[in-house]
Amino acid sequence: MKELMDIITGRRSVRRYRDEAVGEEALAQLLEAARWAQSWANTQCWEIIVVRDAAVKVALQEAIPEGNPGRRCVESAPVLLAVCGKRRVSGFYQGNALTRFGDWMLFDLGVLTQNIALTAHTLGLGSLVLGLFDHDAARKTLGVPEDFEIVTIMPIGYPAGDVPAPPRREVAQFTHQDRF
Ligand SMILES: Cc1cc2nc3c(=O)[nH]c(=O)nc-3n(C[C@H](O)[C@H](O)[C@H](O)COP(=O)(O)O)c2cc1C
Repeated sequence: MKELMDIITGRRSVRRYRDEAVGEEALAQLLEAARWAQSWANTQCWEIIVVRDAAVKVALQEAIPEGNPGRRCVESAPVLLAVCGKRRVSGFYQGNALTRFGDWMLFDLGVLTQNIALTAHTLGLGSLVLGLFDHDAARKTLGVPEDFEIVTIMPIGYPAGDVPAPPRREVAQFTHQDRF
């Protein structure tokens, strides 16, 4: 088992996958990690569609613009997790938004996808969070109901090679003491 900081710093966005299936046990661990994500008032507003069907993958890929560097791996990754969120639950009480940010669903799904990405990395799997695509087209393909959004498509699989780490801002560049 890798140390937590190694897992956090070693996880990369993987856009090329080997032609090797992801086992059911590994997949179950990813979903278990998702299950334990923290969320607003424990609202757990997520639904996850496990996509293995080649025709569904192709249809999802068609919803992604050509310029998106993650487009091609949607078809080639052995499995995709389509992460959906229910609107107006997270950050709401009795139908009213509790904060100026309104819906916290995206935030909760961000936490959940990070749980999945980090767990995948510990298992030797790569993953990618895809946010730039035609969400309405993807919704139609997957039959997502009206009061839900499909927020991200996550390809999962064994990386086809090493991925260099994109640069990060230094801690001192984003850390403030006592006031902004
Ligand atoms: C919310 C979100 C949306 C993203 N959408 C895309 C995407 O549509 N296509 C893509 O290739 N990468 C996408 N990425 C991956 C980022 O480009 C990547 O995380 C960033 O460049 C840092 O690289 P690293 O994940 O390897 O550390 C997305 C990441 C996040 C968190």
